[in-house]
Amino acid sequence: MTDKRPHDHPIRGRFNSWLLAKYEDDFHEEMGERKQRHIGGLRGVVVEIGAGNGVNFRYYAPGVQLIVYEPNPWMHERLRQAAGKHALNCELRPVSAGELDLPAQSVDAVVCTLVLCTVEDPGQILREVQRVLKPGGAFFFLEHVAAPRGSGLRRVQDILMKPWHWLFEGCHTNRESARLLEAAGFERVEIEHFRSRKMPPVIVPMISGIAYRQR
Ligand SMILES: C[S@@+](CC[C@H](N)C(=O)[O-])C[C@H]1O[C@@H](n2cnc3c(N)ncnc32)[C@H](O)[C@@H]1O
Repeated sequence: MTDKRPHDHPIRGRFNSWLLAKYEDDFHEEMGERKQRHIGGLRGVVVEIGAGNGVNFRYYAPGVQLIVYEPNPWMHERLRQAAGKHALNCELRPVSAGELDLPAQSVDAVVCTLVLCTVEDPGQILREVQRVLKPGGAFFFLEHVAAPRGSGLRRVQDILMKPWHWLFEGCHTNRESARLLEAAGFERVEIEHFRSRKMPPVIVPMISGIAYRQR
């Protein structure tokens, strides 16, 4: 996978880490119950893709063996602090998740939140997720997604896409992640649609759910 590393910019990198930290409590208030319900039930070896500052670390059960892929170096200090605060058994791999350096069928679950919007090639990420998951393994996702085609909000998302992508290091306002997940070849995909009250107005349509790898 070509990885142009949009997260190598020191000012945007620091800005995005600071911004995510600033909204962490708001996200917990709005999405914490969904995350706790899904992430809190995971056991064994769990991979988190694009963990950012470690915003999800508070939800993992004790004893989970966590492997984290986070290529943005400006996130790492907060991420390490979060791992220490929550006493996690956590290994940071500071590289893209486009090619996971893990054996096939070696992982019990994969987590990613607000990441499919950002990665350069979400199809490649979803193929890698299914390669490393054990048969029947669970993939938990939570993402902002494109508004319906033809809607006013979708037009705004399309117009703002380029500056947004630059400022937020690769983030797409209008990525159709629900459709991508449904077409990715999982055995079953359970998606809940909801609207955020905390996100900027242009990215309020959201999804969360679980996809299960083929047995
Ligand atoms: C919007 S942030 C979300 C961070 C965190 N998951 C959260 O929910 O707050 C997107 C994250 O995806 C990471 N990312 C971007 N491209 C990636 C890739 N190819 N592989 C793994 N992580 C990536 C970014 O560095 C960033 O930390």
